[in-house]
Amino acid sequence: MYLSELTGWSDSADVLRGMRVVVTGGAGFVGSHVVTRLLLTGARVKVVDNLSTGRLDNLDDARRIGLSERDLVVADIRGPGGTAVITRWRPDVVVHLAAQTSVAVAVRAPAPDADANICGTVNVLDATVSAGAGLVVYAASSAVYGRVPAAGLPVGEDAPVAPIHPHGISKATGLRYLDWYREHHGLAYTALMLGNVYGPRQTGLHCGVVARMAGALLRGERAVVAGDGRQTRDFVYVGDVAHAVALACVTGGAGMVNIGTGRETSVIEAYHLIAATVGADRPARHDPPVTGEIRRMALDPARAGARLGWQPTVDLAEGVALVVADGRRRLARERLAPIR
Ligand SMILES: NC(=O)c1ccc[n+]([C@@H]2O[C@H](COP(=O)([O-])OP(=O)(O)OC[C@H]3O[C@@H](n4cnc5c(N)ncnc54)[C@H](O)[C@@H]3O)[C@@H](O)[C@H]2O)c1
Repeated sequence: MYLSELTGWSDSADVLRGMRVVVTGGAGFVGSHVVTRLLLTGARVKVVDNLSTGRLDNLDDARRIGLSERDLVVADIRGPGGTAVITRWRPDVVVHLAAQTSVAVAVRAPAPDADANICGTVNVLDATVSAGAGLVVYAASSAVYGRVPAAGLPVGEDAPVAPIHPHGISKATGLRYLDWYREHHGLAYTALMLGNVYGPRQTGLHCGVVARMAGALLRGERAVVAGDGRQTRDFVYVGDVAHAVALACVTGGAGMVNIGTGRETSVIEAYHLIAATVGADRPARHDPPVTGEIRRMALDPARAGARLGWQPTVDLAEGVALVVADGRRRLARERLAPIR
């Protein structure tokens, strides 16, 4: 049931047949969907993850379709243990998703964010070059565009890279390193500039706003909205993101490519949609706004269409329904768990 929700893509089955792909951060939210997607399209996959925010049970679907224990390396990309699988196994493609992903955490502590996202990325790129892999697919973020003027939305890839917080800075630095490795080592890259990714399995203290609001409402609590809730995001469904990664693996270096819907949705609009889907009528609790938060964002996906043949297929209402169904299943499992 769960797997089938994620994989309505039978038309592209087998296009990655035999391709060897290392996925860093593969036990995370996005990574686990990517791993499933790559396996279903015929790739051989190895996962590197230090499980700092990732979870082994995120890979249950992947295990059901062939990921073995040997294919999972629990290690940190900042050290040799985390990159050895790249240099030894010599994949065709490295999909680099491992990162410190929280803006709030990066604002409080920029150094660990930079350590994981800059030093970790450089380590992965070094190993990719040593292994002779032809392509790296990198998860960048809309945060690298910073504050885009209203007239510039939806933002295209030619807009200035102008991050305004430490997490945007570390992700943008990754882009500069990709340029350097391409120029000096001939390493092709596709950097997916991801919007606000949401979908089943997104959990944890610092997870995305859709998952946080849905989780609170499903537990019978009030959802928290930062500030007036009129800040906008480009919400993109995780299955669509996984499909973009699979397409990137077979396309070759496409450079920077936005992965979003082109639509701005305010957080408060998303809240109302989630509340209606859950059937909750509690008003949201408004907390103070997050300092330095980007006010408006939407990504122009035209280049993704032209270069990858990608377009979003799941709209927010459909995606939220999948998130709520997943949340209900998780809650039911928690409530059925034996008391120790
Ligand atoms: N979710 C979003 O809305 C979003 C938006 C833009 C970009 N991204 C990017 O997509 C990627 C995946 O994000 P996610 O939402 O799945 O987050 P996530 O936290 O679920 O996944 C990150 C994974 O990387 C692993 N990891 C972190 N540091 C590591 C290290 N030093 N060594 C090895 N593994 C490490 C974590 O354990 C986790 O499994 C990240 O690069 C993130 O910046 C996500």
